[in-house]
Amino acid sequence: MSTRDSYDEIAGTYAERFLDELSGKPLDRALLDLLITQVDGRGTIADIGCGPGHVARYLHDRGAPALGIDLSSRMIEIAAAAHPGIGFHTGDMRDLHVPDQAWGGIVALYSIIHVPPAEIPAAFTEFHRVLKPGAPLLLSFHLGDEVRHLDEMWDHPVSLDFQFYLRPEIETALESAGFAIDAYVERRHYDHEVETTRAYLMAHRP
Ligand SMILES: C[S@@+](CC[C@H](N)C(=O)[O-])C[C@H]1O[C@@H](n2cnc3c(N)ncnc32)[C@H](O)[C@@H]1O
Repeated sequence: MSTRDSYDEIAGTYAERFLDELSGKPLDRALLDLLITQVDGRGTIADIGCGPGHVARYLHDRGAPALGIDLSSRMIEIAAAAHPGIGFHTGDMRDLHVPDQAWGGIVALYSIIHVPPAEIPAAFTEFHRVLKPGAPLLLSFHLGDEVRHLDEMWDHPVSLDFQFYLRPEIETALESAGFAIDAYVERRHYDHEVETTRAYLMAHRP
């Protein structure tokens, strides 16, 4: 079972659990507000691995043009139904079918966690290619050096690898792809979250 099939399988439950989650995530909201400031009118912000679209919706509601991209077509259907007026499209961060310098910013929260280390350079090279000069990128991931595998999630069959990353791995890969690193933040999990340390990285295309 692929990552795409797994997220198709759990998309409905994921949306029920997470569509409203930003209301309880003040640091995420603050970082998204900062992202909008740093985009500074350069263009659309792409939410990559958007799931049910709540992050794109947050950006849109604050006046920032936004769209969502996700591997799972079921996630995209749910996002499009929940947030009319925002564009949602199926796609893969390792091979984005958009022109060079198409976007003014990228946010990818907990989506590189499904990209294995060997494929991270392809994803970051794509992020760099599709961003305008000066455009920012905000990433989040689970901090560590393990891979957690799940065969079942919320009573649904899945086959999902959750790849944890260390800060230097991600920073080095971003710099190799041409990004300049701007900021790094860690936080503990909230009570309702899985018990992992959360890492956030901001970078930009020089
Ligand atoms: C843990 S969810 C995070 C969803 C949302 N960003 C959030 O913060 O709630 C991971 C999402 O990334 C998507 N995804 C995984 N691999 C991807 C890839 N290569 N390209 C685009 N999306 C991907 C999955 O389909 C899933 O919707």
